[in-house]
Amino acid sequence: MLGPTSAAESELPFDIDTVLPTRDFDHHIGAKRANPAEYFTPTLEHDVVITERRQILAEHPERHIGMDEDAGDLLVSTIVWAKANSILPDDVIQKLDKEQSLQEKLAILACTWEPDFLLLGQNESQFFLRGGVVCFPSNWDFTQKINHPLEQIHQIVPRLNECIGKNIATFLARMRDGISWQRVNWGMSSSPKKNNHPALGMPRLQASTPLDSVSFRVEEQLLQSLPSNGLLFGIHVRRTNLRNVLNNPKAAAGLNQALATMNEEMARYKGIADIRQTIIDDINEQPQKKLN
Ligand code: HEM
Repeated sequence: MLGPTSAAESELPFDIDTVLPTRDFDHHIGAKRANPAEYFTPTLEHDVVITERRQILAEHPERHIGMDEDAGDLLVSTIVWAKANSILPDDVIQKLDKEQSLQEKLAILACTWEPDFLLLGQNESQFFLRGGVVCFPSNWDFTQKINHPLEQIHQIVPRLNECIGKNIATFLARMRDGISWQRVNWGMSSSPKKNNHPALGMPRLQASTPLDSVSFRVEEQLLQSLPSNGLLFGIHVRRTNLRNVLNNPKAAAGLNQALATMNEEMARYKGIADIRQTIIDDINEQPQKKLN
């Protein structure tokens, strides 16, 4: 899909042209065709990731997993779709078939797949978040958003609805043909942990935060229409140390341009307003460091 199934910490676990193209920052859909079987294929980190998911779900299920009364059909439809596309191992299919409770079926999927996933139902022209599992959120609270329309969920992202809200609605409404799409978002965090739930109170990135301690996060998102007229939205988080991005000239150039052209409101939303000049200065000093 977008990156190798595993990467050493020094390699970038994402495609630079997709995640950090050298162009000005803007809101765009940027969707490309996806292969869902590849998206859900276990990576070399599978066991570690699944252990972490189990632990997070055992400690704080109320933050990370949930569904409303309209999510049942979407969940059943997800399982039908996953079986038809050979995305579930046989032993998991057997467990799912034996299990009657929808909550338990959701919990089984939550501890089978590495990516997080959300279920969206359509009501007239609007999509509503109905449920799912988000073990590795950036700074947002998944269970608080269940039952909300996508447009309202996106309201917090500066100028997103104004710039491309209509395009998103049209794009999602046309996704009836079973074709899979993928897109990416990137962000940064003060923690190497993938779970950045707001309740954990991760420290803010500041101008003085050492760049070697910053995590660069990429969310590989899967957009999949379901047989029952809803949507499956996958989020696979890949992270690396920011220094690995800065050490790669092409990635550093893309990041430099994105940071330099992002408006202040968006930089605040992404939590990088205070640190971005430090990063830009570091990138621009690098050629001189090499000469000295
Ligand atoms: C083509 C479709 C979509 C586009 C173009 C899109 C775009 C975006 C963008 C640009 C952001 C800001 C992320 C950042 O820069 O840090 C965002 C945030 C977000 N999006 Fe989407 N998105 C799409 C579909 C979805 C779907 C289907 C969901 C499912 C519920 C979703 C849920 C979210 C959430 C929860 C956030 C974080 C909001 C927060 O900070 O509270 N998006 N989206």
